[in-house]
Amino acid sequence: MNAVLAETSRLSVIGAAAATGALDVERVRADFPILQLKIEGKPLVYLDNAASSQMPQQVIDRLVRYQTSEHANIHRAVHTLSEIATAEYEAARAKLQRFINAPDQREVIFTSGTTDAINLVMHGYGRKFIKAGDEIILTTLEHHSNIVPWQMLAEETGAKIRVVPVNDAGELLMDDYENLFNERTKLVGVTHVSNALGSINPVKQMISVAHAHGVRVLVDGAQAVPHLLVDVQDLDCDFYAFSGHKLCGPTGIGVLYGKAALLEKMQPFKGGGDMILSVSFEKTVYNTLPYKFEAGTPPIAAAIGLGAAVDYLSGIGMAAIARHEHELLSYATAQMKDMPGLRIIGNAKDKAAVLSFTVDGVHPHDVGTLLNQDGIAVRTGHHCAQPVMARFKVPATSRASFAFYNSMAEVDALIAGIRGVQKVFA
Ligand SMILES: Cc1ncc(COP(=O)(O)O)c(C=O)c1O
Repeated sequence: MNAVLAETSRLSVIGAAAATGALDVERVRADFPILQLKIEGKPLVYLDNAASSQMPQQVIDRLVRYQTSEHANIHRAVHTLSEIATAEYEAARAKLQRFINAPDQREVIFTSGTTDAINLVMHGYGRKFIKAGDEIILTTLEHHSNIVPWQMLAEETGAKIRVVPVNDAGELLMDDYENLFNERTKLVGVTHVSNALGSINPVKQMISVAHAHGVRVLVDGAQAVPHLLVDVQDLDCDFYAFSGHKLCGPTGIGVLYGKAALLEKMQPFKGGGDMILSVSFEKTVYNTLPYKFEAGTPPIAAAIGLGAAVDYLSGIGMAAIARHEHELLSYATAQMKDMPGLRIIGNAKDKAAVLSFTVDGVHPHDVGTLLNQDGIAVRTGHHCAQPVMARFKVPATSRASFAFYNSMAEVDALIAGIRGVQKVFA
């Protein structure tokens, strides 16, 4: 069984659709106004979900309601609107806590996204606890946002970065991973799902290996949280980061989950209002969790919108979402794997619904441009994962990434579109 299905079916199922196992794609699609668009005169086929997913009307309505009848700054006033905004912001935090099964609301920190969350860990944990000669383990599959901050830290401190290699299918080599540990290892940073290839990494096993060596683990969950039921207690990760805009929520919002005991020991990343209990020129006392890490006015509307987004996803059920996306992936892979002149990059056994591919003799940007003329949105380029491109010896790929609102007919449109590209370049 695919790991997505195994993980989701193992855990308690949420939502009515999940209970019956079915996902009514046409009904779901009706919730997304943007899917009615025509691009270049053709119905939009949106297959760029790994970059950013679309927003259902329920989330749009929630944002409008907030802006039209609830908006004020939070945590700072006794007037009615401020109290409503504060309560709704904190209610959103509670929704996110339940969505990833974090033990405590204090462990859910709102950030501006995954990148911001990883930088928070780098500044708050890395700069305090990682010193010259210490080692940080990353993997070949990391997005640049889980590489560059650690390189900056390594440059500043003299720490070293060690990298877990992947096999030709795009799976991490677990023996090599285990062999990288030594007494200098201080942190593992690993992506739960590769944005470039779709590989689902065995993070639970990796965390257990790291913990056996007394090493902390940061999981980049940007591509996992939208597609599988994530349980941070089951994973036992120390930190888990993700973004709202890949989760049917707004841009400018994300989450860092961290174990309270670690967060307590960390330095704040940003200083300013709201993250303090008292300030004088002699001494500042930092606020309690999670506010210690939320300096300044946070993205209140975006957090409330993200709360509505996870309500929406829970209503459908992550198990039903994972199942449908797995069917889309299997259907697309079956048609593409034997297509002459086409190479799929990344064939991990456990894969999320991402298909990276190259078309012989055609630059990925030309593939993307021609598909766009058919109304099909795919991403082309290095996907902010240049080490993955280097490993597979390609400068770039085209990437179709699916969401639960994509249909089998859209997979057919993609296949027809690729055939069209091949004809143009024949
Ligand atoms: C695996 C992974 N990590 C991190 C990021 C960065 O996310 P954001 O730009 O929302 O901070 C992305 C975005 O594509 C991603 O796919």
